[in-house]
This record gives sequence, structure tokens and C-alpha cells, in this order.
Amino acid sequence: MNKIPRHVTIIMDGNGRWARQRGLDRVFGHRAGVESVRAVFETSAELGIEYLSVFAFSEENWSRPDSEVSALMSLFIKSINNEKETFLKNGIHFRVLGNRERLSPELNAAIDDLDAATAGGTRMTAIIFVSYSGKWDIAQAARRMAAEGGDDIEKYLVTYGIPDPDLLIRTSGEQRISNFMLWQIAYTELVFTDVLWPDFRREQYLAALEEYSLRDRRFGKVK
Ligand code: FPP
Repeated sequence: MNKIPRHVTIIMDGNGRWARQRGLDRVFGHRAGVESVRAVFETSAELGIEYLSVFAFSEENWSRPDSEVSALMSLFIKSINNEKETFLKNGIHFRVLGNRERLSPELNAAIDDLDAATAGGTRMTAIIFVSYSGKWDIAQAARRMAAEGGDDIEKYLVTYGIPDPDLLIRTSGEQRISNFMLWQIAYTELVFTDVLWPDFRREQYLAALEEYSLRDRRFGKVK
């Protein structure tokens, strides 16, 4: 691979279908998806990718059935608590971005604890987008910018300080952005794969990175 992206972001899709194909409840798909999250984090750290972000829960996802929302929230808390040692050991700074006001006090506490504990990690930054949407981000940035009389909207986006993604991967065959980072992906390379998220592991991730490495990025200029 001749080009390693600095920031890879992933829309993890297809957990529900993966579970349904096996006659299981959707929640089992999300649980299997946690293993894929672990696999891409590990592989990214190994390859020297500096930022890896995943879209775990959108603002729109709040309207899923209560049972699924609460199962996902418990899974986030459990995963955060389980992975603390791994992040610390591997020098990974863990961050959560999104509308934190909508998260439970328990989840917010777990996030703050892990963020503070891993803040010294310099090898990689792992970002989980929870209760996030691109339009929400732009709107909250515009509001804060107006209140402060600022003029640079980038400074007010929740991603301020994080380089824009070089590569966005979406699994499960859907070819759309679904209100994810709208501002930040202006020049991002998009890779879509039919693989469902729980089946997206090291091998499938390497294939997506390979595809990226063959792209010719011009950022609107001529070469
Ligand atoms: C999309 O599949 C997936 C989600 C909405 C949840 C993603 C969450 C995880 C993989 C769990 C853990 C994550 C972390 C960061 C610990 P879908 O439910 O939309 O699937 P479908 O389109 O087949 O219905």
C-alpha cells in the first residue's frame, strides 16, 4: 500500500440485516459489530493511521424502538469500560463527539473518564460519533459563532482540531452519507462495500485501504 490515510472514518451499517439473516434479534448484530470496531481500531493503530472515527449513533437513531436504543447505549457503556486498558496500553486517545446533552449521565461519565484517562495517548485518536449529525454540527457551530461574533465556522464544529477525513468507508451496500460529517467530507474519498458491518474485519478493511491508495486526489486542482 503506497498511501496511508491520516484520518479514516466509517459509517458502520448492516448490523440489523446481519442479525436478521441469522434469525436473531438486531441487538446481536450490534454486539457482533463491536468486534469489527475492535478489528479496525487494531489494524489502524498497526498501520500508523492517526485518526480513526466511526459513526455509532446518529441524531436520527433516537427514533428507533426504545429497546434498541437502550441496548445500544448499554453496549457503548460496556465497550467503553471494557476497552479502557487496551486504549491505555496502545497509546490511543479516545474521544466521543456529538450532542452530549442527549446522553445519559452514566454514559457521559464513562466518556469523560476514558477521554481524561487516555488524553496522553499520542499514537492514534479514536473517535466515536454518538448522537451526531452533520446538519446538527453545522447548526450548533453557526449558533456559537454568531454568539461570539466569530468568522471561521471550522473552529466551532465539534471536529475542530481533527484533520478532515481522507477516506470514508460505508458498509452494507448503501451509497449515501446519511447526514454524517457534511462539512468535513468536502474532499474525502468515498469507498462503498456490500459487506455488512459485523463481517467487516481486517481483510475487508485492508481492501478498502488498498482501493483508497489507488485514488488520485486533486482537491479540485489540476495536477
Ligand atoms: C448500523 O446498522 C449500526 C448502528 C446504528 C450501530 C453501530 C453500533 C455498533 C457497531 C456497536 C458498538 C460501537 C462502539 C463504538 C462500541 P443498522 O442497525 O442500521 O443495520 P441495518 O441497516 O441492517 O438495519
